[in-house]
Amino acid sequence: MIYIARIILQTKMRLPLFYLSLPIWFFLVFSIFHAINANNLIPETCKKCAQQDPNLIYNFCVTSLQAAPESYSASDIRELGKISINLINLNVTNTTRRVKKLLECKKLDPYVKACLNDCYNLYSNAGTATKQAMKDYKNKHYKDANIEVSSIIDASTTCEDGFKEKKGVVSPLTKINNDTFQLSAIALSIIGMLS
Ligand SMILES: *[C@@H]1O[C@H](CO)[C@@H](O)[C@H](O)[C@H]1NC(C)=O
Ligand SMILES: *[C@@H]1O[C@H](CO)[C@@H](O)[C@H](O)[C@H]1NC(C)=O
Ligand SMILES: *[C@@H]1O[C@H](CO)[C@@H](O)[C@H](O)[C@H]1NC(C)=O
Repeated sequence: MIYIARIILQTKMRLPLFYLSLPIWFFLVFSIFHAINANNLIPETCKKCAQQDPNLIYNFCVTSLQAAPESYSASDIRELGKISINLINLNVTNTTRRVKKLLECKKLDPYVKACLNDCYNLYSNAGTATKQAMKDYKNKHYKDANIEVSSIIDASTTCEDGFKEKKGVVSPLTKINNDTFQLSAIALSIIGMLS
């Protein structure tokens, strides 16, 4: 009797603890799976992207996608595509702003000024293209999204090439053009996987 009572007592003491911890265990297991999945999603996607496009730099892809706060909850490639278009949008907006600031400089070489003016127009149009690309991407109109993101790639290379046409001129936008190019290449690659 004493033995049975002891067992009942022990079970009773254990049961609430067991029931309490069950949801916690589910939560823990789910979180770990989610974390592993999210951790692998970006490198796996970037690996595929870099295989498709030799201009696309794997490390840049991983770093920029991982730095985006929304990427923590991204569970598939489609969401990563949205994040990459969002990053293009930030870059293009910032670039337009920076070019405008550079143009305010009074002592600008006329050739550089002409280049910056071209870049300003290119990036302003790229801003419109990015917003349209996001709309089309969300509606799964991948063909249109592809055309728009390609036009952003063109904008970044056309802007950079302008400075190269005159000897001795150094582009003040090399890094920013390169970032825009890289981000657009990532988006383009993901769009290609989905369509
Ligand atoms: C462009 O995007 C890259 C990658 O997300 C980032 O490192 C860089 O700071 C951005 N540049 C601008 C000007 O927003
Ligand atoms: C780009 O712009 C966003 C807001 O539009 C800002 O938070 C971010 O710091 C900017 N990045 C750079 C590198 O200028
Ligand atoms: C573009 O950026 C990538 C990654 O940051 C870098 O490895 C590459 O050398 C850059 N290319 C140019 C032309 O600046």
